[in-house]
Amino acid sequence: MDTPLKNLAIIGAGAMGSGIAALFASKGLNIVLIDPMEGALERALKTIDRQLNVYAPGGVQEAMQRIQVSPGLEAACNSDLVIEAVPENLELKRGIFAKLDSLCPARTLFATNTSGLSINAIASAVVRRDRFVGTHFFTPADVIPLVEVVRNDDTSEDTVARVMATLRFAGKRPVLVRQDIPGFIANRIQHALAREAISLLEKGVASAEDIDEVVKWSLGIRLALSGPLEQRDMNGIDVHYAIASYLYKDLENRTEPSELLKSKVESGQIGAKNGQGFYTWSPERRERVLREKSAALGELAAWLNGKAGGS
Ligand SMILES: NC(=O)c1ccc[n+]([C@@H]2O[C@H](COP(=O)([O-])OP(=O)(O)OC[C@H]3O[C@@H](n4cnc5c(N)ncnc54)[C@H](O)[C@@H]3O)[C@@H](O)[C@H]2O)c1
Repeated sequence: MDTPLKNLAIIGAGAMGSGIAALFASKGLNIVLIDPMEGALERALKTIDRQLNVYAPGGVQEAMQRIQVSPGLEAACNSDLVIEAVPENLELKRGIFAKLDSLCPARTLFATNTSGLSINAIASAVVRRDRFVGTHFFTPADVIPLVEVVRNDDTSEDTVARVMATLRFAGKRPVLVRQDIPGFIANRIQHALAREAISLLEKGVASAEDIDEVVKWSLGIRLALSGPLEQRDMNGIDVHYAIASYLYKDLENRTEPSELLKSKVESGQIGAKNGQGFYTWSPERRERVLREKSAALGELAAWLNGKAGGS
């Protein structure tokens, strides 16, 4: 049961698929990376090569040789595990899994890297629902240790155990999410935080730089060592209760994205990828920040793992 699955297919060679392929190839697993879009596989191989040079410089050539590429889903048919990382579109994902279900042998396990779509809704496209889980990686997928493993109503214990064993073998810290709840755990907490941060910006309480400064150097640095519940214990649940009693009613609780968020998207200010978001980004700055943060996150994760045994 603790034996990792050795032959993996990754469907979708974008930001997440490339990172997931780099991670598993660097740990000695065989990868088939599948993407039908023009130029996607070439771009992905360049990205993977660059990523491996950052954190596994001694083994780049060997890892790259473990990655086969293909435009067609048929190439997944000898895999022990297929991880899907195509765009966040329910019908696209369902269509891919329906096809894979007819192509792959019964032993092949299926996983989706959806950020928050219902695992039940995606899994209902296949007959092998007992062999289907969500594996929610975080970007950069080869660096951030945690993966949320999300079961659908029919996922078997054996499937969970095999997928978790494979993730652990690759150095990940998988956590089982017991219910198929929208956003799972991390995105619910991340969006609660971002909703409040965007609301503070919209109200003019502080600049984007200052809001980020407050979060990074207070909550952020502390959260790297203590989760929000452990931190409540340390602060005192009575103190938390007293503050919650007057503060909750003043917190942002809108159920639709705010006007600021909507206007950013409508005016094309969608962030680092096109030069303007809450900050201004040149292509050079974007590339440098991505590279530097990725390397720093890797060092931080390694330090945290060693320091506290990761607890
Ligand atoms: N980017 C993130 O921060 C992040 C984090 C966690 C989860 N996710 C989830 O991971 C998934 C992928 O996100 P991403 O950021 O890598 O997207 P992306 O746009 O970078 O990559 C998607 C890839 O899928 C390919 N693709 C499109 N149609 C396909 C098809 N029919 N068959 C095979 N490949 C196809 C595209 O060519 C592209 O290379 C999404 O579900 C997303 O919500 C993203």
